[in-house]
Amino acid sequence: MPHKPFKAVIPAAGLGTRFLPATKAMPKEMLPVVDKPAIQYVVEEAVDAGIQDVLIIIGRNKNNIANHFDSMPELESTLERKGDHERLAKVQHSSDLADIHLVRQGEPRGLGHAVWRAKGHVGDHPMAVLLGDDLIDERDPLLSTMLDQYDKHEAAVIALMEVDPEHIHMYGVASVEATDDPDVVRVTGLVEKPNREDAPSNLAIIGRYVLPPEVFEILERTEPGKGGEIQLTDALQELAADPARGVYGVIFRGRRYDTGDKLDYIKAIVQLAADRDDLGPDLRPWFKEFAATL
Ligand code: UTP
Repeated sequence: MPHKPFKAVIPAAGLGTRFLPATKAMPKEMLPVVDKPAIQYVVEEAVDAGIQDVLIIIGRNKNNIANHFDSMPELESTLERKGDHERLAKVQHSSDLADIHLVRQGEPRGLGHAVWRAKGHVGDHPMAVLLGDDLIDERDPLLSTMLDQYDKHEAAVIALMEVDPEHIHMYGVASVEATDDPDVVRVTGLVEKPNREDAPSNLAIIGRYVLPPEVFEILERTEPGKGGEIQLTDALQELAADPARGVYGVIFRGRRYDTGDKLDYIKAIVQLAADRDDLGPDLRPWFKEFAATL
């Protein structure tokens, strides 16, 4: 029997401590990347992959995110009066983009707990989980490939990326077996933030997951793990260890920006702005000149 349509879940309730003090009164998912908050790129990615129903898990400072995806009658009528249709369209785009729903996490008890909070809204639909500070360049599609793999294997699918062994301790890491597709692996085990010597591979989990609804039942009884947080990786490990269910990994080789990290955030802005028609022609020569002074 075909499964119910996918819903998207975007956890955005973390504390964002790496970006303090900018994130003291604003979620890191609302930091602008050129001229859009990071989370808008993520919602657009879900919509581009055909998912219209989007649930955002919000924490403190919730109003920023809710307001961004709501209409703004005062601002809209001012732009309309001025005849500024281009900016009006941009303002309206974020409120017309998708069917946005919001749920509070309460306390930030970990990514696994944030995803578990989606249970009431997602129910028995499969879901795509997209981390709200993790941007995948729209020119390198990933989510649609993952949805296809979910349909093919009827099993959870995670996104994996090769990382430098020096950085492996910052990620969930997978042990894998090859399949007949060079970009798809079967995941045999997962470990959250291992030491370099204990890492089973250089394949790190990045912020995209396609999960069956059964994951809620596992998350419900997942004990706090690394860092005292309820880890999504631990729940996925249970799926991976069960031969009747299993987990597959899509190896992503495209452009990804972790906007929750300061250095990656700066790189994302420079790269995306340099490619834009409105900014690139001025930014690129300036950047070359600047680089020559370094
Ligand atoms: P991170 O570990 O990157 O977020 O979580 P963080 O804890 O906010 O970051 P730092 O290290 O303090 O700077 C990955 C994703 O999971 C969400 C975050 O918002 C981010 O999108 N998250 C994390 C939650 O929604 N709830 C949590 O309890 C933890």
